[in-house]
Amino acid sequence: SAAEKGGFKHFMLKEIHEVPEAIESALVGRFDEDLKPNLKELDEFNLEKVKRILLVACGTSYHAGLVFKYFAEKYLDVDVLIDVASEFRYRPIRIDDNTLTIAISQSGETADTLESVRAVKKAGGKVIAITNVVGSTITRESDITLFMNAGPEIGVAASKTYVNQLIILYTLGLYMMKKRGIWSEEHNIISKQLNESPKIVRKIINNEKINQLADYYKNYHHFMYIGRGINTATAMEGALKLKEISYINAVAYPAGELKHGPIALLDPTFPVFAIAPKDSLYEKMRSNIEESRARNARILSIATEGDEEIKKISHDVIYIPEAHEDLYPLIIAPVIQLFAYYIADKRGYDPDKPRNLAKSVTVE
Ligand code: G6P
Repeated sequence: SAAEKGGFKHFMLKEIHEVPEAIESALVGRFDEDLKPNLKELDEFNLEKVKRILLVACGTSYHAGLVFKYFAEKYLDVDVLIDVASEFRYRPIRIDDNTLTIAISQSGETADTLESVRAVKKAGGKVIAITNVVGSTITRESDITLFMNAGPEIGVAASKTYVNQLIILYTLGLYMMKKRGIWSEEHNIISKQLNESPKIVRKIINNEKINQLADYYKNYHHFMYIGRGINTATAMEGALKLKEISYINAVAYPAGELKHGPIALLDPTFPVFAIAPKDSLYEKMRSNIEESRARNARILSIATEGDEEIKKISHDVIYIPEAHEDLYPLIIAPVIQLFAYYIADKRGYDPDKPRNLAKSVTVE
């Protein structure tokens, strides 16, 4: 009913607007007063010694895991091996004393993810689950659960739960850095910004420009999402959201891979959605945008406030506030969600109930 949607046209829009408070609920009790992360409940897992992390998830949760891979490997002496659960469960699983498994599932009921957890347990491994649903199956099958506390999510395509998965995963990564004695001033900055992210997101979700651009782009049949480094995951999640609810063919690539095939697709009918915040790969990203532009593709970029250069090579720009580079996936998530939401709605589809999709996939 309209009342349940709190005045919003759809649950998905309401749930994107709930992101700031959802983040606050995920952060509560997980940081000390000095803003250092505290996940004491994980201390039995020997976080000091972990050398390999197996990360398993499906769909949007997989993309959250990909963000963690980049974040963790940048600072920690660990390898993060990530796979979608439907593949993971059928591959050989190697566990030793220094291996830890993280399973991410918003619903806690995805069949392939649960089977992967069981396979790891059977092989003698330890599993940390990240879920939004108290009492879900994954909480019983895993050794410990970190709840993301996003509140109920009705829209089939994940929105606020994706953001909260990122919050939990950043917190977990930071906690490992603290435990392993490699905490630095940079981590203080990340930690502080993570705790301030509800404020930042509040500004972003009210940016009318996203709605206006959706109006312009709604009639395209194809989209190429590109990003680099940690925002490869952002590009993949942006494309997934668009596919899921607007049924536009969207593909995602790490931008450096364009020249190995996908660039052949580009022409004026195939716009490029470039995730291009000011980070250490920004210059590389810019040349990838220029390559795309040279094929006459229309360019829509997400860029950091104050970046005037990007305007010269993009047809449209959505600006986001400056942040620590590792946190851009978090800041940009609501933007790609809103863009997909508005396009789906303008094309006349119900973003809450996309065809052929279910909120949780409990069969293989
Ligand atoms: C379904 C949903 C997706 C979700 C995926 C994984 O396909 O439509 O939005 O990302 O399942 O769900 P989970 O509950 O395991 O995170």
